[in-house]
Amino acid sequence: MSKILILYYSQSGNTEKMAQAIAKGAKNAGTSDVELSYHVEAEELAMFDAILMGAPTYHHDMPMDMKKLFEGAAVKGINLKGKVGAAFGSYGWSGEAPNLVLEIMKNKFEMRVIEPPLLAKYVPDGNMLEKCSDLGKRISETLMHNV
Ligand SMILES: Cc1cc2nc3c(=O)[nH]c(=O)nc-3n(C[C@H](O)[C@H](O)[C@H](O)COP(=O)(O)O)c2cc1C
Repeated sequence: MSKILILYYSQSGNTEKMAQAIAKGAKNAGTSDVELSYHVEAEELAMFDAILMGAPTYHHDMPMDMKKLFEGAAVKGINLKGKVGAAFGSYGWSGEAPNLVLEIMKNKFEMRVIEPPLLAKYVPDGNMLEKCSDLGKRISETLMHNV
């Protein structure tokens, strides 16, 4: 059975709403093992088939914890090659964070990333939450069919 990690940060709850909609979409599409989390250790990343990161943009950057996680995974030689990767996040005006996340997933860890990332301006509306749910569904189906 495939395992999906949805790791996210959210100070005012906007990225969290996206994370929950993605989780719902993945579960409805048949993946029961979906973990929503604020924090994981670098070693734990290896247990998942797909890793989705929810990164709101603050100060034109991704959250510090996420950087540390990537750095820790690199130092410890955690192998994420071929795992499915995706990124999403709320933003106000520039929204760099999810693209920075995908860049590292792709170039450093050789993950199979889904592009472009999902970006919601401030509070995600109904249409955006539907896109989030669709992303969860797409990832669930990708893992099931291993395509
Ligand atoms: C101190 C501060 C800095 C921010 N810096 C940026 C920024 O550089 N670029 C941007 O697009 N949005 C920026 N924002 C807006 C946030 O990304 C936005 O409020 C987003 O909805 C926060 O998501 P969250 O509720 O998941 O934490 C900033 C917000 C605050 C409070």
